[in-house]
Amino acid sequence: MNSNSALVPLADLLVVDDTPDNLRLLSTMLSEQGYKVRKVMSGPLALRVVSVASPDLILLDINMPQMNGYEVCEKLKADPRTSQIPVIFISALDDVWDKVRAFEVGGVDYITKPFQCEEVLARVKNQLTLRWFSKQLSDQNIRLQQEICERQQVENALRQSEAREREKSQALELTLSELRRTQSQLIQSEKMSSLGQMVAGVAHEINNPVGFIYSNLFIARQYFQDLSKLVELYQKAYPNSTPEIQEIIAELDLQFLKEDWQKMINSMQVGAERIQEIVLSLQNFSRLNKSDLKPVDIHEGINHTLEILQYRFRAESYSHRVSCPEIEVIKEYGQLPKVTCYVSQLNQVFMHLLSNAIDALENQPPPRRITISTEVGTGEWKEDREKENLSKDKDKYTQYVVIRIADNGSGMSENVQKQIFDPFFTTKAVGSGTGLGLAICYQVVVEKHQGQIRCISAPGEGTEFIVEIPIAQEYLLSEGH
Ligand SMILES: Nc1ncnc2c1ncn2[C@@H]1O[C@H](COP(=O)(O)OP(=O)(O)OP(=O)(O)O)[C@@H](O)[C@H]1O
Ligand SMILES: [Mg+2]
Repeated sequence: MNSNSALVPLADLLVVDDTPDNLRLLSTMLSEQGYKVRKVMSGPLALRVVSVASPDLILLDINMPQMNGYEVCEKLKADPRTSQIPVIFISALDDVWDKVRAFEVGGVDYITKPFQCEEVLARVKNQLTLRWFSKQLSDQNIRLQQEICERQQVENALRQSEAREREKSQALELTLSELRRTQSQLIQSEKMSSLGQMVAGVAHEINNPVGFIYSNLFIARQYFQDLSKLVELYQKAYPNSTPEIQEIIAELDLQFLKEDWQKMINSMQVGAERIQEIVLSLQNFSRLNKSDLKPVDIHEGINHTLEILQYRFRAESYSHRVSCPEIEVIKEYGQLPKVTCYVSQLNQVFMHLLSNAIDALENQPPPRRITISTEVGTGEWKEDREKENLSKDKDKYTQYVVIRIADNGSGMSENVQKQIFDPFFTTKAVGSGTGLGLAICYQVVVEKHQGQIRCISAPGEGTEFIVEIPIAQEYLLSEGH
């Protein structure tokens, strides 16, 4: 098989012709070229031979008794097992329609008798090469498809394992955030209980000395009044006393001393009262262990917290900070019923919100203002509860108090707002903020009291925190929420 022998392996040919001479001539000629040649003399015989072992090419005569070449070819093409075998027609018919018909029924070539040996060989070789290449192509195609299939399987497996990994990492993230929450709760309760103990201790220690200063002031005032009465009596009885006494009276400016002493005692009394108020606030604020639910006046809690933070509202400088202008606190309190809540925890919420507001006002130009407003809610809460379908008896949930704490400070970007309730999120300098304040507020308001906390803010436009606490707390908790 000359030039293509390297590519095309020894081919198996089938020659079909009812004329023995033709058959012999063709088969000798092809055998001499190295092809393996099978010969049959009729169409049905040809189909049987092909069904036993498929040849690589068929040379098919058209004019045959019993079954002509076209019919044989049609049958071969109709069977998927034999449809790929190339068929070259060999015929004495030279009409163009015969040739057209030959191609129509699936022939690949047409040789007219009498034929030239070289022509037959060239056409056979041509078809065999074509078939070989097309087989290579289809093999390659199959291999490629297999490869694609395998890759898809690998890809699917990868995707599945990726999904599994993602699930795992989500679960881990959840655990981590749960851990952080627990950690922040622990730190907070530790912090608050030690702070509470310290505050309670300090308040107690101050309370006693202030108590006796306050009560002695009353007696001191009385003593002084008695003494000054005595001096007046002396002056009346002895208007012309000794020059020495006259001199001392002039020196002391007795009249001024009497007036100033009154003023001093008064301001000492105001100061002592103030200390007593602060002590009371500290004691109220630090009732940390008394965490039982009870009905309280929310305004009292806010006022105590404001009292404790008083020093930060004043205009003068405090601690290491430079002097800041005064912060004006505007109270717009509405009529509130008593709210059943964990009072010390709610006080902590007010403390954190107010501290944050004060921090946000630092370095802001006057007027620096914090507005605290309260009211009984009228619908928002109810809607939410209804949406969540948490109760059959929704009226119980419609009563809630709304506390708004607004400042005209620095405000927050949207990005910051998204993270403020995350434990340990802070924009403050290292050491000056733990980032727990709002996380605690969230826990206390949402988890402890089934309330809501949210904020409205924009950079440069201040911030408003809105806290909503259901009034019927006991009812909520007894239902196990
Ligand atoms: N009123 C506010 N105005 C502007 N930013 C605020 C306000 N309140 C909170 N923030 C922002 O939210 C962050 C988180 O507040 P949070 O109270 O949780 O922590 P912190 O104040 O930074 O630290 P900590 O309260 O633990 O000392 C703050 O760092 C601040 O960026
Ligand atoms: Mg804070």
